[in-house]
Amino acid sequence: MYVLGIETSCDETSASVLTQDFRVLSSVVLTQDEIHAPYGGVVPELASRQHITAIVYVTQECLSRANLNMRQIDAFAVTRGPGLIGSLLVGLSFAKGLAYYFKKPLITVDHLEAHIESAFIEHKRVPFPALALVVSGGHTSTYWMKAKTDYRLIGRTRDDAAGEALDKIAKFLSLGYPGGPVIDKLAEKGNPRHFAFALPHMTDGSLDFSFSGLKTAALKKIEEHKISKRSPHFHDFLASFEMAVVRALLENLKQAVKLLKPKSLILCGGVARNTKLRQRFTELSRKLRLTSVIPSPELCTDNAAMVAALALEKLKKGRRPSWPLDLNAYPRISSPTPSPKRRK
Ligand code: KG4
Ligand code: ZN
Repeated sequence: MYVLGIETSCDETSASVLTQDFRVLSSVVLTQDEIHAPYGGVVPELASRQHITAIVYVTQECLSRANLNMRQIDAFAVTRGPGLIGSLLVGLSFAKGLAYYFKKPLITVDHLEAHIESAFIEHKRVPFPALALVVSGGHTSTYWMKAKTDYRLIGRTRDDAAGEALDKIAKFLSLGYPGGPVIDKLAEKGNPRHFAFALPHMTDGSLDFSFSGLKTAALKKIEEHKISKRSPHFHDFLASFEMAVVRALLENLKQAVKLLKPKSLILCGGVARNTKLRQRFTELSRKLRLTSVIPSPELCTDNAAMVAALALEKLKKGRRPSWPLDLNAYPRISSPTPSPKRRK
């Protein structure tokens, strides 16, 4: 059995074929970084237009690398949301067309759940219950999982996502787009203790995140200390800001662990490529004696392998394959379940 996944939720056009046993036969990711770089962030209309241009070629390339033709595909999978609505509609419409023409089932998946699924492609034995931290350019969310595909949202950002904060600071310092990887690289040369950042703190006992305060504090420091590419403390500033983002994520996760006592910790989403975050997350898991699960870097940023994997998981769980040709895309995260109160 072969599942073809399609992902177009933001600025990557991707297609991937997985076998029944979750082997990735091929995965093609075409990034739009060069298109959006001059603007310092994703321009939604340009993203949709690029998906429309690229989707057929990306899919053809994916099939050709897998040595398959479209008639050999048994099911199609596509991201339905959350993401940029115009971008999502390109992938969804394309996948609907394929399912309709080839009379094969279409399984739609949630983008954040697909990010979590990326962790299971390489790690087959993850002890449950698990806490999954999804850190991307558009989202920062924590999920409680009693089993695979059983997700309960327990915390989410109330303003900026972690990746968004990194991207915005990089844009302000004219470091290019996406800013996360650039900061990752440059921060290596800096002292993360040079600048002190106060960490965000939720006063209502929820496990939500907030990054807009950190971003504002960073902008103030840039002004106060006249930080630019040429200033002596440029690398120290980036290292300190990056460390503040990492600590904010992990402090929150520690609270969730204390409250819920999971057996494993999962880190996924584009920001999970970050070197410091991967290191600190692994150290924290070790200290807490929990299994640490982080996908390979190429599975962290948006890709269709995670979409096909989640669809396979759904098919295996016996969810009846459907032919939902009237389904629409959704731009925002599905509604949250209330966060648990912290113990006093
Ligand atoms: O998951 P993703 O590919 O797209 C969304 O769903 O948003 O995540 C993209 C985000 C961007 O904010 C990008 O700057 C960040 O992931 N990112 C990184 C690194 N690589 C990508 N952030 C920090 N360090 C990295 N190495
Ligand atoms: Zn993503």
